Amino acid sequence: MTTINRRRALTGSAAIAVGVPVLAACGSDSSNAEDSTGSGDSGSGDSGSSDGGGTSGEVLASAADVPVGGCFVVSGAKVVVTQPTEGDFKAFTAVCTHQGCLVETSTEGDIPCPCHNSKFSLDDGSPISGPASAALAAVDITVDGDSITRA
Ligand code: FES
Repeated sequence: MTTINRRRALTGSAAIAVGVPVLAACGSDSSNAEDSTGSGDSGSGDSGSSDGGGTSGEVLASAADVPVGGCFVVSGAKVVVTQPTEGDFKAFTAVCTHQGCLVETSTEGDIPCPCHNSKFSLDDGSPISGPASAALAAVDITVDGDSITRA
């Protein structure tokens, strides 16, 4: 009997502990503090990329991870890599433009957001349906053999 009670107590704690990060993941993420002191090169750059940061050369996925006609979410990097047609890879921010949830990996021909069912284009990240009205920002990538890295 005590074993059952203890297991119940642990299960309850685990459910609470798991719930906290999920809520945090759905909120707006403002903790992207980059320390750019501007030492070194000219630093006069507005490179025009709006992918929210990340390191050039960061390995995002292997080509085999990304389904043809689908997408693969790299949750740590908050990037979704798509393969609209075989061998054609694109990448976008994985943060939904509606309320900031992470979109999901899919084989269904679009990039779905689980929170309110917005769907985005594999080709250009534009919204196809749902409440989101803005496109997912493009992320520049380099595909070298089987390796997909941030450009
Ligand atoms: S946060 Fe993605 S549809 Fe609402």
